[in-house]
Amino acid sequence: MTDRYAVMGNPIGHSKSPRIHRLFAEQTRQDLSYQAILVPVDGFTAAVEQFRKEAGKGLNITVPFKQQAWQLADQRSERAERAGAVNTLSIENGKMIGDNTDGVGLVRDLTENHQVSLHNKAVLLLGAGGAARGVISPLLAQSPSAITIANRTVSKAVELATLFEDLGAIRGCGFPDLANQRFDIIINATAAGLDGKTPPLPAGVITASTTCYDMMYSNEPTAFVQYARQRGAEKIFDGLGMLVEQAAESFFIWRGVRPETSDIIHAL
Ligand code: ATR
Repeated sequence: MTDRYAVMGNPIGHSKSPRIHRLFAEQTRQDLSYQAILVPVDGFTAAVEQFRKEAGKGLNITVPFKQQAWQLADQRSERAERAGAVNTLSIENGKMIGDNTDGVGLVRDLTENHQVSLHNKAVLLLGAGGAARGVISPLLAQSPSAITIANRTVSKAVELATLFEDLGAIRGCGFPDLANQRFDIIINATAAGLDGKTPPLPAGVITASTTCYDMMYSNEPTAFVQYARQRGAEKIFDGLGMLVEQAAESFFIWRGVRPETSDIIHAL
């Protein structure tokens, strides 16, 4: 019987996950189906229960259900535990095992696809919401010299840094505190781009040699990508590669085979 997988979210209409996972399945000759399921905002638990009853094997979880998926999981990986969010559920003998592949997806896209090493680098992470939290432990595992979290609401940045301080050098601050500071890599994990906005970085923080990465992806250049271009950054990436890499890691968790991602990133 064909094994069943799906992504649950709201909205879900523009999700690229079904296409990505079908391409992975084709490439690795795995017999599986993958659909997108639009779940009402108050209906996540019921939707997962239904999927489990129908003998579904695994789920990807996206906005706004990743924290609920964390709660619902019977067991969680260390990185999911830290992330406070689950984007991958594996259903084994009725038991739900939660993982979070976002951070590893970001790290693989940076280090393997774009050849940007994080080792000993000064990293600036913009934003202190769920998206930022989801990627911190895999970033720290690359032993950057330090991670600075900057957020509009400063207290959230400071609290988030405290949650991870046992894993490496990390601190939280506000945007004005970044004046006169330089970073090797700036990663945008704010939701500002959803409104076509960019986080309020002081002038001079982005230079030609700053690698800029937007965790968001869209068919047009994102607001942050455009902003980084205007400031003369030479290496600028959006989140398409991260999207494919987090999917590849989920696929690996479910199927035990790692798809080759570069052709698929290009195809998209
Ligand atoms: P997500 O799961 O996408 O991270 P979230 O938890 O709601 O969503 O967090 C949104 C993040 O984007 C927060 O860091 C938020 O800053 P605040 O904590 O100060 O609200 C940030 N954000 C949203 N719009 C922003 C904007 N216009 N400028 C700067 N930061 C913004």
